[in-house]
Amino acid sequence: MTKRSGKTWAVAGLLAVSLALTILAAQTTWASPSPATAAYGSVGQETFEQETFEYVGSRKCKKCHLPQFKSWEDTPMANTIDVLKPGERVDAKLDADLDPDADYTDDPTCLECHTVGYGEPSGFESLDATPDLAGTGCEACHGPGSAYIADNVMGNKNKKHSFEEVVAKGVVFPVPEDTCRKCHNDRSPFNAALDPKYELVYSKEKLDEQTHRHLKLKFDHGPMPAGTLFQDSQ
Ligand code: HEC
Ligand code: HEC
Ligand code: HEC
Ligand code: HEC
Repeated sequence: MTKRSGKTWAVAGLLAVSLALTILAAQTTWASPSPATAAYGSVGQETFEQETFEYVGSRKCKKCHLPQFKSWEDTPMANTIDVLKPGERVDAKLDADLDPDADYTDDPTCLECHTVGYGEPSGFESLDATPDLAGTGCEACHGPGSAYIADNVMGNKNKKHSFEEVVAKGVVFPVPEDTCRKCHNDRSPFNAALDPKYELVYSKEKLDEQTHRHLKLKFDHGPMPAGTLFQDSQ
């Protein structure tokens, strides 16, 4: 009994700490709300610098996640830069009052949602400079990979990492609806007001493997976080 309430308090304590950290993060990164941007803050007397995570490109994930990579390549999101080219999706563009002959691949108002990390220091710049960040790459949903893909974090020397460990290094897992809504929202020229077919049904489409093929994880990483695809199966 005492043991149990000790645990409850520990959980309550953890929740309080994470709440405090969330509030702090919200305050310190307000100017640039991206996880890829360095943020500075202070607790009491102590000042600290938050770790900076950078985008590395989807090809860096391929060697360890081949089935996910290959199936993602076949989704429309892998090539979201292509639809910005002249002559692509002509009818859809006309319906949305866009110019089907224009080249939108360097238009800042489109790139935010058709690439990885556009506008952030390590994000997409141009098709020539950062081809591996074109399209809705792995990191558009899972966060910038520079820290978490390391062998001693997620990789070969630490295959049984805990979810907390990798999340602390920037991985987004599970992927919440908010992540999808960064792009699937009313600011998109192709939204539900234009045509109901553009409405994103998160629960269905996430489960429909429209993001990529989902494999049950091989290694033990502790209890599955709430909201993952796997929570019922484990
Ligand atoms: C706020 C995010 C956002 C912005 C900004 C944005 N898009 Fe998109 N775009 C999306 C999303 C999400 C979809 C997928 C909609 C769907 O199919 O459900 C999409 C789909 C498209 C499509 C395919 C439509 C079809 O039916 O085939 C084209 C073409 C396109 N966008 C062009 C553009 C152009 C050009 C711009 C800039 C003028 C732009 N987008 C700006 C998010 C955005
Ligand atoms: C960085 C922006 C971005 C993010 C984040 C994003 N998408 Fe997309 N998504 C797009 C764009 C742009 C298209 C349009 C591709 C096309 O028409 O070729 C698209 C297309 C799609 C499609 C195919 C079109 C349709 O509506 O049937 C599905 C399904 C989809 N996204 C689901 C999701 C889900 C689920 C998430 C979150 C887990 C997500 N997307 C996150 C930009 C994004
Ligand atoms: C050096 C190998 C390696 C690289 C590179 C790598 N991963 Fe992983 N990743 C792993 C291993 C091992 C697991 C655990 C797999 C399992 O249990 O089946 C994992 C698990 C994951 C998970 C599930 C949650 C978790 O942490 O267990 C996600 C999401 C993920 N990786 C995304 C990515 C993305 C995105 C990239 C590229 C930016 C990437 N990984 C690069 C080895 C790697
Ligand atoms: C459009 C969003 C999106 C993109 C892009 C995306 N993922 Fe995922 N990924 C998810 C979702 C959703 C899950 C399921 C986790 C959950 O339940 O939230 C997931 C789960 C995973 C897992 C856990 C095991 C599994 O198969 O489900 C790995 C590993 C992973 N992704 C790697 C990748 C890699 C590598 C890429 C790029 C090739 C990638 N993801 C691109 C949304 C995405």
